[in-house]
Amino acid sequence: MNSADRRTIRMSLLVLGITVPAVVLAALCLGQNRPGLQIPKGPSGKVFKNVKLLKDLPSDQMIPVMHKISTSLGVKCDFCHVITADHKGFERDDKPMKNKAREMITMTGEIRKRFKTVNNKVECFTCHHGHAEPDKMPEGPGGPGGPGGPRPRRTRG
Ligand code: HEC
Ligand code: HEC
Repeated sequence: MNSADRRTIRMSLLVLGITVPAVVLAALCLGQNRPGLQIPKGPSGKVFKNVKLLKDLPSDQMIPVMHKISTSLGVKCDFCHVITADHKGFERDDKPMKNKAREMITMTGEIRKRFKTVNNKVECFTCHHGHAEPDKMPEGPGGPGGPGGPRPRRTRG
C-alpha cells in the first residue's frame, strides 16, 4: 500500500458517519478522491460502466467509497473485482462477491430508511468490523477470534 492509498483510507475513515439525507446510498461513504486518477465529474451511473445502485453518487466519491467498503470488510479490491494487468475490469460482474455486496448495499440502505432508531448510522463496518464474514460470537477468550487479536485478511472472491 502506498502513502496515497493510506491517505485515502484515512480520509474515508475520518468521514465515517457523515450522512447526506437526500441520497441515502451516497451517504454510505464520503471522502476525497485519490489525486492523479482522471475520473470525469458527474453521477457515477453516467461516468462508470456498470453501476446499478450507487448511480447518484458523485463520481469523485466512488473510489473513496470502495476503499471504505474494503477496509470495513478487511479485504482488497480483488475480493469483488476482476482486475486486469493494466488495472481495468472493475465493471465486470464475474465475481459473485460483487453481487453479494450489491445485496448488502441495498440491505444497509433499507435498514437506515426503515429503522429510525439507528439514526442513519448503520454502515458496512457496523456488522463486519474488518471481517468479510461477520463474527457470530463476541471476540475474546472462548470466542472464534481467539483472545483479542484481529483475524487474517482474506483475498479470495
Ligand atoms: C465487497 C465488494 C467490493 C470491494 C472489496 C470493492 N468493490 Fe468496487 N464495486 C463493488 C460493487 C458492488 C460495485 C457496483 C456498485 C453498483 O452497482 O452500484 C463496484 C463498482 C466499482 C467501480 C465502478 C466500475 C464500473 O465501471 O462500473 C470501480 C471503479 C470500483 N468498484 C473500484 C474499486 C476499487 C478501486 C476497490 C478497492 C479499493 C474496490 N472497488 C473494492 C464492490 C466492491
Ligand atoms: C446488518 C449487518 C450487516 C451489514 C450492515 C452489512 N453486512 Fe455484509 N454480511 C452480513 C452477514 C450476517 C453476512 C454473512 C451472510 C452469509 O453468511 O451468507 C454478510 C456477508 C457479506 C459478504 C459475503 C462475505 C463472504 O465471505 O461470504 C459481503 C461481500 C458483504 N457482506 C458485504 C457488505 C457490504 C459491502 C456492506 C455495506 C454496504 C455490508 N456487507 C453491510 C451482515 C451485514
